[in-house]
Amino acid sequence: MQLSIGKPFMLTALAMLCGGLVLGLWASIYYIAPEYAGRFPGFEALRPMHVSSIMFWILLGATGSVYCALQQLVGGWMSKPAAQAQWALWAIAIGGIFFSYLNRSFGGREYWEFSPAWALPIALAWLLFLVNFARAARRIQRWPVYVWMWMTGIVFFLFAFAENYLWLLPYFREHFVTDTAIQWKVNGSLVGSWNQLIYGTSFYLMERINKNAGIGRSRLAFAMYFLGLFNLMFNWGHHIYTVPTPEYLRYTGYLVSMTEWVFFLRILYNWKSSVSQAQKYYHYFPYRFLMAADLWVFLNLGQAILMSIPALNLYTHGTHVTVAHAMGTTIGINSMILFAACFEFLGGGQRAFLAGNRLLNATYRTAQLALLVFWLSLNAAGVQKGMWQMAPDPAPFRVMMDGLKPWFWAFAGAGAVLATALLVLAGGALQAAWRAAPGAAAAEEALGNRAARESQRV
Ligand code: HEM
Ligand code: HEM
Repeated sequence: MQLSIGKPFMLTALAMLCGGLVLGLWASIYYIAPEYAGRFPGFEALRPMHVSSIMFWILLGATGSVYCALQQLVGGWMSKPAAQAQWALWAIAIGGIFFSYLNRSFGGREYWEFSPAWALPIALAWLLFLVNFARAARRIQRWPVYVWMWMTGIVFFLFAFAENYLWLLPYFREHFVTDTAIQWKVNGSLVGSWNQLIYGTSFYLMERINKNAGIGRSRLAFAMYFLGLFNLMFNWGHHIYTVPTPEYLRYTGYLVSMTEWVFFLRILYNWKSSVSQAQKYYHYFPYRFLMAADLWVFLNLGQAILMSIPALNLYTHGTHVTVAHAMGTTIGINSMILFAACFEFLGGGQRAFLAGNRLLNATYRTAQLALLVFWLSLNAAGVQKGMWQMAPDPAPFRVMMDGLKPWFWAFAGAGAVLATALLVLAGGALQAAWRAAPGAAAAEEALGNRAARESQRV
């Protein structure tokens, strides 16, 4: 197997996914039988290790997808040494972060709980990504929507990541409310930024599958991009309803979040054509993951819009409804699109093997079903806890937690099936990559070089 610029990122992303799944499975044992989960490293370390592994799966998978797509679009214009340095910086950061967790050197903030020193190699790696992206994107005439999305995602991530470390300055550490508001705002912006990278990839893949270059240039695609960008910039107020910030911040977050109804209604409106499109492309294995992501967008968006209504957020905040949303979106939407990208970019030459592989097809369906049970059980536990939180005369905490046990068993059981299914799919992507024709990378490079020459002529 020859490696192009993007593939080492995708392979590392798959390794992070596998590690993250095992850690998540382990953490879920604390929900049902903590006495069997072992003392070391404990839930306080397992949770951030799971969340970091999973976040690196998303970030490295998105990086690899953008590189693979750019290589197909413009070929050899990117710097291989810069990409290799970028990969090495990520490897240093990941090693340092896990060392930091295992030594209980936390010190960071929610979602980025490792010692802040390890943020530096990530920031440098991201700068190299920006440079390489700029080198390639300059060669593309009249950017299709996905190139705009990638640019937005890369630039906004860098900005939000810098903001994420404002707390290192004494002023922010000393002002608790400002510090907390910034932390939650940043988490929202980081999610929004990686979504741009991943949604851009989904547009690109759809264009390749459809063989219709109009998809990425349509007015509707750009309208959706601007609505997404608007939300990325201004909807973060919904993360801080419970923090005592100025009212206008919360109202803006609320109003902007409600524009997401447009996406929701559009999905309903296009339902019929989506079904016929699904029938047309279902034989194409990577497409199935894009189809699954569409369904998960629908379910998660419905839930997210409700959670963004302040009166309802009072109930859901701090409960498993938020955990259901965080995992429902990162698994159902982000990971499904990344699986489509892995199967397309790593195993592109393996279409017949993928489409006819019974194990992979059955596993794909099992994963969707297990995720549904996983998501529903977390939501049910969250709603029950939310009612308890707001009850005028709540039962003791222990009694409430005991009442949630059946939901936790369903969550852990479905989680075990889901983790196994996703591990098998990750194995399938690796196998497809391994089987890919030895000349695939060279052919891809040649295709890219031809595309580069053609784009220069335009
Ligand atoms: C693929 C899309 C999305 C992903 C991956 C995602 C992911 C997340 C994650 C990881 C969190 C927990 C951490 C944090 O508070 O920042 C979160 C919280 C939240 N998200 Fe999303 N999200 C997505 C879309 C949306 C949308 C479209 C809305 C609103 C319409 C939304 C509303 C919320 C709210 C209200 C919270 C805070 C819940 C609370 O703490 O009470 N999300 N999201
Ligand atoms: C691709 C697969 C997965 C992704 C993307 C993912 C993502 C996440 C995220 C973003 C969080 C933070 C939630 C929050 O802040 O509210 C989280 C927490 C967690 N995840 Fe996952 N997860 C995955 C798979 C799993 C699996 C299969 C299991 C269990 C079998 C699991 C168990 C957990 C547990 C126990 C937590 C901690 C919840 C808490 O704080 O109480 N995850 N995961």
